[in-house]
Amino acid sequence: MPKSLRKQILKQGDLPTHVAIIMDGNGRWAKSRNLPRVSGHKEGINSVREIVRVCGEIGVSYLTLYTFSSENWSRPKKEISAIMKLLVGTIRKEINNLHKNNVRLSTIGNLEALPVESQNGMKEGMEKTKNNTGLNLILALSYGSRQELLMAVQRIADKVQLGQLNSEQISEEDISRALYTSNVPDPDLLIRTGGEHRISNFLLWQSAYTELFLTDIYWPDFREESILKAIIEYQARQRRFGMTGEQVSA
Ligand code: IPE
Ligand code: IPE
Ligand code: MG
Repeated sequence: MPKSLRKQILKQGDLPTHVAIIMDGNGRWAKSRNLPRVSGHKEGINSVREIVRVCGEIGVSYLTLYTFSSENWSRPKKEISAIMKLLVGTIRKEINNLHKNNVRLSTIGNLEALPVESQNGMKEGMEKTKNNTGLNLILALSYGSRQELLMAVQRIADKVQLGQLNSEQISEEDISRALYTSNVPDPDLLIRTGGEHRISNFLLWQSAYTELFLTDIYWPDFREESILKAIIEYQARQRRFGMTGEQVSA
């Protein structure tokens, strides 16, 4: 099945350059099996491994994974520390394999808010893979889009105050450049697993014209076939960017 789906994707040709995913539903996946929430996070790592592999293999250039939001700090302390431990443990375990597969690891968000151990794990992983030229794997960690926009406004305001920039000259590019994602193209496809129909403070500026794919599948169950089907649906969409269908297909 995945083989024929891959063929279909190749035939269609227009792969999304940047796929972003809100990996939701770990807790409910665990609850539905009478397991503790952390088992859902653990199983979710298997989905991450598989989705990273498939995206790399089919030639997606950027994959951004919403791993921990600014608002997730409000969760019970026990769950937060379990997630942080899983994060370092996973990076340390997987980094050689990622490196071998030419994956370049990076992050967006307030990395400094993470426990030092997790920060160091991320930094080591990024350093090791910084010259790789395959899939760009971007983990959104302690990430919130409003906080990011606030930071951007502050940076730009500083420039205005220093006389380096005129307020009337501030452009959309200036704002894009002041975000964590300054070197990353806007996402083409945004997937949310777990059944909710909301953005939850993810890439608000960047996803102005992103195609949305919402699925009820819980993240630990979202695997190769699921992402291939999402990409096939994306390929069948007509992105109009405000224009008419006739203009776009001309
Ligand atoms: C997403 O799964 C993982 C994180 C937010 C860290 P959840 O933990 O939110 O799972 P649900 O939504 O409670 O099922
Ligand atoms: C979004 O999921 C954040 C991540 C997947 C990391 P949440 O579970 O935190 O979202 P809400 O609270 O249901 O909106
Ligand atoms: Mg959730």
